Amino acid sequence: MKLIGVEGSPRKNGNTEKLVQTILESASENGADTKFYKLIEMNISHCLGCFNCRETGTCVTNDDMQLMHQEIQASDAIIIGSPVYMWQVSGQTKRFMDRLVPFIRPDFTTRLNGKKRLLLAFTQGNPDENAFKSYFEYLENLFSFLHYDIQGTIVASGTRDKNDLLQQADTLEKAREIGKKLVTSCG
Ligand SMILES: Cc1cc2nc3c(=O)[nH]c(=O)nc-3n(C[C@H](O)[C@H](O)[C@H](O)COP(=O)(O)O)c2cc1C
Repeated sequence: MKLIGVEGSPRKNGNTEKLVQTILESASENGADTKFYKLIEMNISHCLGCFNCRETGTCVTNDDMQLMHQEIQASDAIIIGSPVYMWQVSGQTKRFMDRLVPFIRPDFTTRLNGKKRLLLAFTQGNPDENAFKSYFEYLENLFSFLHYDIQGTIVASGTRDKNDLLQQADTLEKAREIGKKLVTSCG
């Protein structure tokens, strides 16, 4: 089972990175082949909106997103992790999401080559874990429309300093359980 973690926080070794890495570590311990990608360290440009990819399935921009397209096609499961920035995903995460357009045909069927399980992982400064619930549901609906197989959303709330997540034993345990479950969901 191949699992990739795509993480969109600009902060190095912050809470979002720790959350995604915890899920990946647990999945790895349970037999998954895992890889971690930190978007801020990659060369991923914005979508040009040219729609060439709609016909060809290939993006005209030759940057690290070409690798990510290959990695997504090779994967059984994907984690997309982002901090909440201004009630939304970070800019790096949104840029990555826009560049997923090549997988969508003009009739909105998918070019994904099989089942792609998708887990969403968020961190937020707000201590109320339900504060952005409707937004996270909206993203689940979006990715479901894009033919990803939604496995759920994990949220770490009240994370401000970069090590705050380490004080949240329950969230870390939940992340480990989710990592294990992702592996078993792949049979
Ligand atoms: C530019 C910016 C905007 C933010 N906007 C929000 C927000 O709208 N709601 C919220 O709860 N936290 C917000 N935060 C806090 C982050 O979501 C939170 O600290 C997160 O855990 C940071 O992730 P990191 O540790 O991986 O960098 C914001 C932080 C920054 C830097």
